[in-house]
Amino acid sequence: ARRPRLLSGIQPTADSFHLGNYLGAVRHWVAMQEDHEAFYCVVDLHAITVAQDPAVLRERTRRAAAQLLALGIDPSRSALFVQSHVPEHAQLAWVLNCITGFGEASRMTQFKDKSLKQGADRASVGLFTYPVLQAADILLYQTDVVPVGEDQRQHLELTRDLAGRFNTSFGPTLRVPAPHIVKDTAKILDLQDPTAKMSKSAQSPAGLVELMEEPNRAAKKFRSAVTDTGREIVFDPEHKPGVSNLLTIHAALSGRSVDDLVAAFDGKGYGDLKKDLAAVFVEFASPIQERVRQYLDDPAQLDKILGEGAVKARAVASATLAAVYDRIGF
Ligand code: ADP
Ligand code: NA
Repeated sequence: ARRPRLLSGIQPTADSFHLGNYLGAVRHWVAMQEDHEAFYCVVDLHAITVAQDPAVLRERTRRAAAQLLALGIDPSRSALFVQSHVPEHAQLAWVLNCITGFGEASRMTQFKDKSLKQGADRASVGLFTYPVLQAADILLYQTDVVPVGEDQRQHLELTRDLAGRFNTSFGPTLRVPAPHIVKDTAKILDLQDPTAKMSKSAQSPAGLVELMEEPNRAAKKFRSAVTDTGREIVFDPEHKPGVSNLLTIHAALSGRSVDDLVAAFDGKGYGDLKKDLAAVFVEFASPIQERVRQYLDDPAQLDKILGEGAVKARAVASATLAAVYDRIGF
């Protein structure tokens, strides 16, 4: 029996992943490649749904791939590739666009949110059909599971609807993926505003910790993280979101359990936790940053890895697209 197939992607829309990206997504990707046949994709087609500078996009795509490798994506186990290197993504997306209802697409709340931010007239049609491209990403690989956060549930439902609709209209062709909502994924919160999730569009740069930022600078952010006025270190996300967020990050980076940390910091103050977490981050990030630099300093090697990843991906993607084209009469 084959291992269950899994697909996930990340946009090359920043110079560095932030801690939310790592702890909420990439960390799970690394773990899941053990018992899944995984396809991990830097989704540059998705990145151009909003305005992009070509040189910046090219650089960020390479940096994203280098970070995935440095964090533990193993290209001998998983297919690691760049979406635009596999033209079948755009080709299947077109077919799926033609079986997606305009009203159905209009109900996607993420488009509503994103287009509101940009002004409705400036939002591209590409941004509007973004969830359809996402469906193509998933269905091309006859994917069994898609690890996504709660915010992607609606897009995954659309993917399942489109696969079912295609199969009903043209005959069984596309595997309908099971939703795999990653529930144990705590949202990583902004260090300066623990009511908001950590995001690349953070209000204050001090609230956002990037994987690639200078370790001492990041350490300073942990030491000045916003907490409440209490003293006791307890895990209580509802009433003490700031402290709980620091415990969550510490546990993930140090490999210790939250309970163990709470016990270890019994009788100590928030300052002790922050200082310790700062040191834990430096120890975690320094070797990863070194490995990212090694990948970026050897462009031929990175090209080779991504080239091999695209070959692996295309072997599956081209078979799916051929079946789809045949079904629809091409
Ligand atoms: P951002 O919110 O900074 O724009 P993205 O939307 O590009 O980040 O997220 C890429 C991946 O990282 C997604 O799988 C998303 O669920 C995850 N992610 C982003 N921010 C966080 C966070 N604060 N906590 C947990 N996971 C996150
Ligand atoms: Na986002």
